[in-house]
Amino acid sequence: MNNNTQVSDRIKQIPKSAIHEMTRLSKKIDDVSFLSWAKPTSGAPEHIGRSVIEAINRKVVDGYSESMGLPELREEIVNKLFKCNKIKAKPSQIIVTTGAIEGLSAAIMAIVDPGDEVILPSPTYSTHINQVVLASAKPVFVPTIEEEGFILDIDGIKKAITPKTKAIVYCSPSNPSGTVFGEHQLLQLAEIVLEHNLMVITDEAYEYFTFDGFTHFSLGSIPEMQKNVISTFTFTKTYAMTGWRVGYLLAHEDLIPQINKAHIPLTICAPVASQYAALAALNGPQDCIGKFRKQYESARNLMCGRLDNLKSLFEYQKPAGSYLMFPKILVEEGKDSKTFCEDLLREARVSTTPGVDFGPTGERHLRLSFCVPNEMINKAFDRIEEYYMKKYGSSG
Ligand SMILES: Cc1ncc(COP(=O)(O)O)c(C=O)c1O
Repeated sequence: MNNNTQVSDRIKQIPKSAIHEMTRLSKKIDDVSFLSWAKPTSGAPEHIGRSVIEAINRKVVDGYSESMGLPELREEIVNKLFKCNKIKAKPSQIIVTTGAIEGLSAAIMAIVDPGDEVILPSPTYSTHINQVVLASAKPVFVPTIEEEGFILDIDGIKKAITPKTKAIVYCSPSNPSGTVFGEHQLLQLAEIVLEHNLMVITDEAYEYFTFDGFTHFSLGSIPEMQKNVISTFTFTKTYAMTGWRVGYLLAHEDLIPQINKAHIPLTICAPVASQYAALAALNGPQDCIGKFRKQYESARNLMCGRLDNLKSLFEYQKPAGSYLMFPKILVEEGKDSKTFCEDLLREARVSTTPGVDFGPTGERHLRLSFCVPNEMINKAFDRIEEYYMKKYGSSG
């Protein structure tokens, strides 16, 4: 066991993950309904695995690749960025990363100095917060406007900028709220960034999963922003490739060698077998994306419908993207989100994620994932209704 003096101050600042604690507690209980998984439950399309087996047989996966990734993969990524994100890039602007997470870590390490401030519109993905802390920088939370669907508070961001502000990190579509930041707001954000010569690091993990006519907009598509944005993407969500650990980042050509200096000590290169999987994903049929989107939309509608029957317990903003939502808890005032989730797990056998993991404005919220089969959603909500019926005599 480490004693306190052996552990870095950076690590001490990172709280124990409530998400992992919920997973640990869930394992102790039989037949749990999970609304806490933020990972695709379906597998990757089969042709992806087959092409990796071929690559293994061709004996091309056993060594390292170039640190920036296989040249043929970077070429395909450039094509995808042009087709899907309206971004004109060159292969020299791409680094293939070990998931989006490593790309985000490398990007943050490359641009942030100890003591710098990094603005995080919150609630936000807990990993971003921890990555900023690991770089010895200071997370500055700017609450999003919940009543309007957790949209960016542009004035709040302006007010939060100080001489120490270095960067803004956001994910859209958002984990945990499912908000899709609109083009109009992102253009306003770009103006602020250019005025103060800041960097923006985007996490576009859920880029394909938007509903109701909402569309994903990439800040990297704005020509004037080329030097001020590092965009990160992943194969994890798009092709249900969580375990392959492969993603990529895009940055200005001049910045790439600097980011690569962080990428190499973090991972040397992305796993080569996974890079072949990524190549197969980009070159192969794309129909899985539409199928996943349709399933998530149907699951979202079901979850929102079930929440409509629980209006006295939860208030929610309908998510326009991702496969996550972030309802506010209206009952049991004074109970924090961690205790609320633990009680729900123990008493109703439903696993959810405490909102506090997503920054201070996440308290008194739950993160629910609708990336689960519809039967799981129904079973979970039947249990929640039954539990509250017993407790209060009514659940609605
Ligand atoms: C917003 C966001 N970014 C990144 C990731 C993980 O990406 P990767 O598996 O590519 O590292 C997740 C996973 O839940 C996520 O929600």
